[in-house]
Amino acid sequence: MNEFKTKYGPWALVTGASSGIGKEFARQLAANGINVAVAARRQDRLEELAQELENKHHIQTRAIPVDLTAVNYLDIIQSATADIEIGLLINNAGAGAPGAFLRQSLDNYTRVVQLNVTAPMQLTHIFGEQMIKQGYGGIIFISSIAGYMGSPYMANYAATKAYLLNLGAALHIELKSKGVDVLVVSPGPTRTEMMEMEGTDFSSIPMNWMEAGAVAAAGLQALGQKSTIIPGGMNKVMSFMATRVMSRQTALTMFGNMMAKGMDPAIL
Ligand SMILES: NC(=O)c1ccc[n+]([C@@H]2O[C@H](COP(=O)([O-])OP(=O)(O)OC[C@H]3O[C@@H](n4cnc5c(N)ncnc54)[C@H](OP(=O)(O)O)[C@@H]3O)[C@@H](O)[C@H]2O)c1
Repeated sequence: MNEFKTKYGPWALVTGASSGIGKEFARQLAANGINVAVAARRQDRLEELAQELENKHHIQTRAIPVDLTAVNYLDIIQSATADIEIGLLINNAGAGAPGAFLRQSLDNYTRVVQLNVTAPMQLTHIFGEQMIKQGYGGIIFISSIAGYMGSPYMANYAATKAYLLNLGAALHIELKSKGVDVLVVSPGPTRTEMMEMEGTDFSSIPMNWMEAGAVAAAGLQALGQKSTIIPGGMNKVMSFMATRVMSRQTALTMFGNMMAKGMDPAIL
C-alpha cells in the first residue's frame, strides 16, 4: 500500500467533484488507490465520473448528489458516508457572485456564504472529529488568492475565501498533534467552468491561467508538508506583491480595475 493511501485512505470525500478542480482531485486520488465519494448537485456528472474512476483505477466510488446550500445537506452526506471511513476531506465546492456588491441579491450572497463558509466549516467539524477518533486523516480547503487581499466586484466571494484561509491555517496547528493534516490551497485563475460566470469574460485579462489538474496535484503534494500554498509561480509573485510590497489600498484598486475589465458594465 502506498504511503498516501495509508495516511489518507481508505476513502476521500470531495465536494464539488462534478467539474473543475474537484473532479481533478477525485481523479488523482483514485489514481493513488483511494476510494472516492464525490459530492455536488449534478448527479449525471458524478455518476459518469464514478464510473470512469472505477473502470480505470479499480477503486470503489460513491456518488452523492447534494446541494450544499439545502437545509438537509448534512443528513444526506452523513447517511451516504455512515458505513465508510473518510481519511481525507476536500472542501472544494464553491461559487462566486461577480459584480458590484449592491447589484446582487441578498439571497444570492447568503447562499454563497452557506456554500463557501458554513458547509466547509460544518463538514470539517463532523469529519475532523471522526478523523481524530481514527487517529489519522487530512483536510484540504480550497480558498483563493483573492482570500489573501479581498477583491472589489467579488467582495463577498473574496471574504468567504479569507475565512477558509484563516480557518484552515489555524486548524493546521490545532489538529497536527492529533494526527490530522490540514492544508489550505489558494489557487489563482484556473481554467474551469467557474471562470465562465454570467456577466464575465476574463479571457482578455493578463492573468496566469493554470489547469485544474495542476492545482489539484500541487494540493495533494503539499498535504502533510505545509499549512497553506498558492499553486503556480506567477500567482505566488502576484500575491507577494499585493500583500507585502504594495499598500492594501493600491493592490485592491489595481485588482478591482482588472476585475471590472472582465465584467459586463451591467453588473457593475
Ligand atoms: N477557477 C478559478 O479560477 C478558481 C480560483 C480560485 C479558487 N477557486 C475555487 O476552486 C473551487 C472549485 O472551483 P472550480 O474552479 O473547479 O469551479 P467549477 O468547475 O465551477 O466547480 C465548482 C464545483 O462546486 C460545485 N457546486 C457549486 N455549487 C454547489 C452547491 N450548491 N452544492 C454542491 N456543490 C456545488 C459544482 O457542482 P454542481 O454545479 O454540480 O453542484 C462544481 O462541482 C471553488 O471553491 C472555487 O472558489 C477557483
